[in-house]
Amino acid sequence: AALRAVPARRPDRTSPIAMSAKPREIDVIGGSVVLIGHGLLTQIPALLREPKLAIKASKFVVVSDKTVFALYGQQLLDAFEAAGVSAISYVIEPGESSKDRLVKERIEDFMLEQRCQRDTCMVALGGGVVGDLTGFVAATFMRGVPVVQIPTSMMAMLDSSVGGKTAINVPAGKNLIGAFHQPRRVFADIDLLKSLGQREISEGLAEAIKMGCIRSAPLFDLLETRVDEVRALEHDVISQVVYESVRLKAEVVALDEKEAGLRSTLNFGHTIGHAIEGLASPQMLHGECVSIGCVLEATLARDLGHLAPSAVGRILRVMKAYALPVECPPKYLVLPKLMKKMAVDKKNAAGVIRCTILTGIGSCFEHPQPVDKAVFEQLLSPQLLVRPMSVKADATVHVPGSKSISNRVLLMAAMGEGEITISGLLQSDDTQVMISALSAMGAGPFHWDESGRFLTLRGLGGRFQVPKEPMYLGNAGTAARFLTTCATLILSPGSSSVLTGDKRMKVRPIKDLTDALSACGCSIKHLESPTSLPIEVAASGLAGGRIELSGKVSSQFVSSVLISAPYAQKPVELILPEPPVSQTYIDMTIKLMAVFGVKVEQEGTTVYRVPRKSYTNPKAHQVECDASSATYPLAIAAITGGTVTAEAVGANSIQGDAKFALLLKDMGCTIEQDADRTRVSGPSGGRRLKAVDVDMEPMTDAFMTAVALAAVAEGTTRITGIDNQRVKECNRIEVMVSELTKLGVPAGELPDGIWITGVDPETATLRPAVISCHNDHRIAMSFAVLGARIPQITIGQKSCVEKTYPEFWADMSRHLGMRYDAPPEMVSDAASVDADVQMPLPADERSVVLIGMRGAGKTHLGKAAAAHLGWDFIDLDHLYEARHGPIMQTVAAEGWSAFRERELAILKETLSTKSARTVIACGGGIVETAEARAVLRAHWPVVQARKPIADIEAYLGADASRPSLGEPPAVAYA
Ligand SMILES: NC(=O)c1ccc[n+]([C@@H]2O[C@H](COP(=O)([O-])OP(=O)(O)OC[C@H]3O[C@@H](n4cnc5c(N)ncnc54)[C@H](O)[C@@H]3O)[C@@H](O)[C@H]2O)c1
Ligand SMILES: [Zn+2]
Repeated sequence: AALRAVPARRPDRTSPIAMSAKPREIDVIGGSVVLIGHGLLTQIPALLREPKLAIKASKFVVVSDKTVFALYGQQLLDAFEAAGVSAISYVIEPGESSKDRLVKERIEDFMLEQRCQRDTCMVALGGGVVGDLTGFVAATFMRGVPVVQIPTSMMAMLDSSVGGKTAINVPAGKNLIGAFHQPRRVFADIDLLKSLGQREISEGLAEAIKMGCIRSAPLFDLLETRVDEVRALEHDVISQVVYESVRLKAEVVALDEKEAGLRSTLNFGHTIGHAIEGLASPQMLHGECVSIGCVLEATLARDLGHLAPSAVGRILRVMKAYALPVECPPKYLVLPKLMKKMAVDKKNAAGVIRCTILTGIGSCFEHPQPVDKAVFEQLLSPQLLVRPMSVKADATVHVPGSKSISNRVLLMAAMGEGEITISGLLQSDDTQVMISALSAMGAGPFHWDESGRFLTLRGLGGRFQVPKEPMYLGNAGTAARFLTTCATLILSPGSSSVLTGDKRMKVRPIKDLTDALSACGCSIKHLESPTSLPIEVAASGLAGGRIELSGKVSSQFVSSVLISAPYAQKPVELILPEPPVSQTYIDMTIKLMAVFGVKVEQEGTTVYRVPRKSYTNPKAHQVECDASSATYPLAIAAITGGTVTAEAVGANSIQGDAKFALLLKDMGCTIEQDADRTRVSGPSGGRRLKAVDVDMEPMTDAFMTAVALAAVAEGTTRITGIDNQRVKECNRIEVMVSELTKLGVPAGELPDGIWITGVDPETATLRPAVISCHNDHRIAMSFAVLGARIPQITIGQKSCVEKTYPEFWADMSRHLGMRYDAPPEMVSDAASVDADVQMPLPADERSVVLIGMRGAGKTHLGKAAAAHLGWDFIDLDHLYEARHGPIMQTVAAEGWSAFRERELAILKETLSTKSARTVIACGGGIVETAEARAVLRAHWPVVQARKPIADIEAYLGADASRPSLGEPPAVAYA
């Protein structure tokens, strides 16, 4: 069938959605009218007499749940009374379990008892539960009576109260019995939302974000740019969100009341969301599951090639901004169960999983599309089993742009003269922060084309404005450092800019830079920590002249001054007392400044002279692809004996890792490199890659890709010069060795590197392995390369590629022909889980571990502490004895090490099940094993109980239940 995409609507920033304070009306089909405003509740009985809204009824039956009735029920009944209208009420228990047959019957019987006739009107005062249930009763009571909805939850106001779907739940599933019954009137009183908690507000807003995704870029923009006001229920903004959501829903319902096609696009995010909800409810709320579903279903659209990666990034970020979850918590990620839930969803005809596919922000295919089950399995599976490639790679790829280059180019373009179109920009949190901050300083507008691939803007010619509010820079290092000098350029006496960031940013150093700028006449105040953000920068201009700066901590300080220097009042001479760190990044800055027409004069690595001059924007600039990301597809060519061309990274590259191709040549590949592309052909015809001896200091990020190739190369490879890789996302050298060893590939550490003896995959005996990724994108990607050649490699945490190369898995399969399976059984990948998904506990609720010498009073103290805090108390020795019998017996029969092993197992189990609000007492000897120490150090506060040795000896002498230490206590404890 031909697919027809609804045309994407361009975000129209010139005419923002109109705001209005008066109640606004929307007509839905079937005579249904929605009124949106505030202070409506008590006016409703009167409004129900106005000509346009009138309902003729002799009696009104208000149905509500206990919680909502306690808040608003009496006010409403009083208003009815005041209006001289007869109204009675029926109150149900709050919660989903009320949406069932029994409660429906009770309401019906109540109404019959009260002699309600056909001229009765029902009023649903509550959330979606009350709305659905009341609507369904109204649909069949006396063959149908009118119903008025007064939605009180965010979800009900935005979504469920409009459209006429009513239902109850039955044992076979949710919402399976129901009717289409349009409410005659819907009164959306914004004020009623004020009694909701922050979590419930955000949860409901997930539906509005969903609506923006499928049908309205302006609504999405509104939710994206006014997060704080929306969450605070700021009146104009929230009523606008409600108005737009309802208007769009009414539009869809009018076109497709009975859900033949278009209306089912409203299920975006719900195909997966409902499945998760089935496992996670009631711990997770509907909207929270929908949030995860939207992100995953957008990812699916991206992977199928329909949606630009930038759009997925925006959806993900907006959900996070509303504190909504974006990943399924591991405990609910049970693939077979999720798949089963999706297959039985009533919207799926004949076992096919149908899913709304986005084509942009604000547009989607008109009908949900059938999607292969296997595609869903791969999408949902947190792990991937890589299949060895049976064909040689033969492709051209365009990996995402370099982050360092992206942010430099954005800033120079915003400062320069003239219009510029930037292509290849990396889409990530860091670039987003930069764009928002530049907008706040008056740059832009930044206009994305519909494909999300080209960004156009007109430079300010250096005329930045003071931002109206503090600029929040998250944890984006380049933005924080670069914009600090930028802010000094503004000349607007008496005003100032404030730069701030997240918790992590508030401890990252910036003092060397602020000191240097202050020394040349700028006025910069540190508002909290004396060495970090937040800072307040006076808008008094940058004098320029001689600036002395230390580049020992970060090369970004140097780049920061260099990039802004052309706009100083005098030419700048930047002096570094010592050579800076990471010179390659300073070189990158200088080369990019030249592209924008400013030539820096350099004396060695410590003196830089910058002329006074505005940047001239080139008409178009292509951001180089990230050279480190490009190493993976190129390595696939090498390892399969195929040919791969990487675009936008070549001999002219300003990135160190572009030299990787030369290393591939030494390993036996054929290389063709021109100015801006690199082509690699791997050895074929039975020839293998060759081992090398190489210093990779100039391209450290690429070393792991080289390791993957070395694992199948002939001979022993030695890679040195990569010592800094021990302090990246993880100790990369150690992890590469341990994961290769798991597979059966010989490898070991060198003082500043690694050695690997390659195996012949045709003849070697290797073991299947789940690779622990340690939340490190490069581990995942390099082992994926190896998986193209060696069978049975499972990547333990596929999502870590998001950091620099979100489309990695899709690119590898779509362009290079790599295939994956969802592993039949999920293997726990403790290393990654620990780093990433463990829920952060507030520090003051984390369980405390009490250790100490035997007899030091741990039990006594522990119990007292627990009682004082109102926490639980657990004695590990007691747990041990309950399970394995007396400790003495274990030690006597099997020795200390057997005891320690079991004790450690119990400790781990206890810490995972009782991670909060528990005092856990264990023997002091527990810290004898390195593993136990590591487990404790990882997360928990440990308190040691002490007591004088002599007292302990006296006390222990009398206790026969303890095993012999093999020596007197005083010796053992020394
Ligand atoms: N008919 C539709 O088109 C449609 C669409 C989506 C969802 N639904 C249904 O909606 C239901 C979920 O609705 P929900 O999320 O509103 O749940 P809900 O009705 O259970 O309300 C959630 C909780 O919030 C409380 N509450 C509601 N308003 C409040 C207020 N103003 N102040 C304080 N507390 C308040 C309620 O008492 C309840 O405890 C589900 O049953 C779902 O199937 C229907
Ligand atoms: Zn929903």
